[in-house]
Amino acid sequence: MDKNKKSYYITTPIYYPSGNLHLGHTYTTIAADALKRYKNIQGYDAYLVTGTDEHGQKIQDEADKKGVTPLEFTTEIVKSVKQLWNTLEIDYDTFVRTTDKNHEKNIQNIFQKLYDKGEIYKGVYEGFYCKHDEAFWTETQLDENGNCPECHRPVSKQSEESYFFRLSNYTDKIKKLYEERPDFILPERSKKEMLNNFLDKGLEDLSVSRKKESLSWGVEVPFDTEHVIYVWIDALSSYLTGVGYGEDEEKFNHYWPAGVHLMSKEIVRFHTIIWPAILMALDIPVPQRVFSHGWILFDDIKMSKSIGNVVYAEPYIERYGIDALKYFVLREFTFGQDGSFNNEKFLTRINSDLANDLGNLVSRTIAMVEKYNVGIVVNPSKTEDIDEELSTFATSIISKVEDHMDEFAFSYVLEDIWTLVRRTNKYIDETQPWILIKEDKERLDTVLYNLIESIRIIGQLIEPFLPHTSKEIFSQLNVENMGWESAKEFGKYPIGNKVKKGENLFPRLDVKKEMEIIQKANDELFQKRVGVKEEKEEFKEDIEFEDFEKMDLRLGLVEECSLHPNADKLLVFKVKIGNDRRTIVSGIKKWYKPEDLVGKKVVVLANLKPRKIRGIESKGMILSAEKEEELSVLTVLNDIKDGADIA
Ligand code: MSP
Repeated sequence: MDKNKKSYYITTPIYYPSGNLHLGHTYTTIAADALKRYKNIQGYDAYLVTGTDEHGQKIQDEADKKGVTPLEFTTEIVKSVKQLWNTLEIDYDTFVRTTDKNHEKNIQNIFQKLYDKGEIYKGVYEGFYCKHDEAFWTETQLDENGNCPECHRPVSKQSEESYFFRLSNYTDKIKKLYEERPDFILPERSKKEMLNNFLDKGLEDLSVSRKKESLSWGVEVPFDTEHVIYVWIDALSSYLTGVGYGEDEEKFNHYWPAGVHLMSKEIVRFHTIIWPAILMALDIPVPQRVFSHGWILFDDIKMSKSIGNVVYAEPYIERYGIDALKYFVLREFTFGQDGSFNNEKFLTRINSDLANDLGNLVSRTIAMVEKYNVGIVVNPSKTEDIDEELSTFATSIISKVEDHMDEFAFSYVLEDIWTLVRRTNKYIDETQPWILIKEDKERLDTVLYNLIESIRIIGQLIEPFLPHTSKEIFSQLNVENMGWESAKEFGKYPIGNKVKKGENLFPRLDVKKEMEIIQKANDELFQKRVGVKEEKEEFKEDIEFEDFEKMDLRLGLVEECSLHPNADKLLVFKVKIGNDRRTIVSGIKKWYKPEDLVGKKVVVLANLKPRKIRGIESKGMILSAEKEEELSVLTVLNDIKDGADIA
C-alpha cells in the first residue's frame, strides 16, 4: 500500500471452483491484470483481487460425486486456479476464498448488521430455483417455457422459510444512482437491460438465506443456526474482504470504493442492482464502475463441458507463450461484446500481427543496424519530411491509448499501437535502407535511428499488455525502460548505443499444422480433466401417480401457425383438439417456420392454466424434446384422431 498515491482497485468475479477454469475465465482475469499494470504505470497504487466462490449446491454436488468433502474438493481446484494465474503471470494482490475464516467472519458481521438495521427480515420464500445459476426467480420472471430466464434450464418450485433483504426499498435509489452516475455501468446496453428488465418493473425483496436442510454447504446465519447465508451475499462481499474490510481499516479506506468490478454479462444484475443496494444498506460507498464484457464463444457456441468444446488457456500458453494468448484475447474481441474463438482465427492473427508485423519489424531493423553499422545506432543527421511525419505519428499514439483505456477498450488500444507498428514497417519500404547503404550513408543512419526510436516507443506502449515482449524489445535495443511518458518524445534513444540481436519475438507459424497440434493438445487436456462426456442425468423430485394424472395430455392438430406479432422467439398456433379449438403460444420459432407444423399432430398439455404471453392468451402447451440446442416437437407414430388421450 502506498498512501501517497491515488488507489485504483480492480476485481474479477470470484470463480466457482467446480471444475478447471477455461479460456472465458482467463479473459476477465487477463483484462484485469492488463488494467492493473496500466494503472500502476500511470502512477496509481493499483490493487487486484480475485478468488473463488466455494459455497453452494453446485460445489456440494460435485464434491458428493467425488466422495470428498466440499472443502477438500475446492481446495484441490483452488490449487489449479492459482497455478493457472501463476502460469499467466497474473499480478493479483489478494486471492479471496469464500471459505477463508476472515471472509466467513465478515459475511456473518455483514448479515448481522443488515438484520440489526431492519434491512433483513424473516419470511417465507416461494419461488423457482435454478440450480445451475443458483438463482431464485418469481413466476413472472421465468422465460416463455417456464424455465430459468438466464440459462433456460428447468427450475424447481420451492417454498421455505428464508431471510429476506429489503431490496424493494432500493428501486428508486438504484435508479437515482444510474442517473447521477451515467457511467456507473458500462457498456450502456447493460444499463438499459437492468432498467427495462428489473428496475422499471420494481424490485422485489431478495431471499438471502437457505434452510440448512436444503443447503448445508454455506456460512451459518449468525443468529439462526437453521439457516445458511445465500451464496450471492457471500460472494459479492469478497470484494470487501479482499481489501481488508473488518480487519485493516486503513487499507480498506485507501482502496475502497473499487475503481471497477469486471465480469461478463450474465452476472451484471448481481453487481449493478443487488450489490449497490447491499452497500447502501451498510452505508458503504458503491464502486465507481461496473464493466460487463461479452462472452467468448467457441465457433459461435457457448463453451460447455457437456458439448465438449471447452478451450483451456494452458496449451496455448505452453506452445505460443503468454503474450500471444494475452494479445489475442484482448485484440480480437471488443471488450463489451461477444466474440467467437477458434484456432484458425487465433493462429492467423498471431501470424499476421505478432510474427509478421511486430516480429519482422524488430528483427529486420536490428539486423540492418548490425549489418550496416556493426550494431551501433548513429546520430541522425540528415532528415527529410517523412521522418517528421513518422515521429509525429509515433508520439501521437499514447494519447489515443490513454483515451481508449479510459473506456476499457482494450482491442482499440492494441489497434492504436499496431497502426504505429504498420506505419514503421511502411517507413522501411519507403526509405529503402538497402539502397541507401550504397548511395547515402548519412541518410541511412538517420533512417535506422528513426526505426529504432519508433520500436522503442512501441516497446513502451505495449508494456502493460505484453510485458514479456516489451522487455525483450528493450533488451534487443539494449536500453532501460524509460517510463510511460517517454512515449511522448521522439529522440530519446541514446546515440552511439549498440543493439543486441536476440531471438525472433514470434516465429511464423504453419497455420494448418498448428491447428491440428493445438486441437489435439486441448482435446487431451479436456479428456484428462473432464473425461468422456459422461454427465450424470439429473431428474426432478419423484412424484405420485396422482400428480401425473392431473395433467390432461392430448393429441392436437395444428390448423394454423403464424409469427407472434410482438415477440421474436414465439409462434402462435391454432390447434384443434377434438371439438375444441384453441390458441397456443410457443417459444419454438428458432427451430420451426410457421408452415413446418401446419397439418401435423402434436402433443398438447391441454389443462395448463391459460396465460397471456406478450398480449396473446395461450391455452395449453405444445410439448417438445430438447437437448443441446436441438429441439423436436412431440408427435405420434400412427395416425390417431386429434383429441386422443395421452397417458
Ligand atoms: N461465482 C460467480 C461470480 C461471483 S462474483 C461475486 C460466477 N462464477 S463463474 O465461475 O461462473 O465465473 C463467471 C465469470 O467468468 C464471468 O462473469 C466472466 O467474468 C468469466 N467467464 C466465464 N465464461 C466466460 C466466457 N465464455 N466468456 C467470457 N467470460 C466468461 O459466476
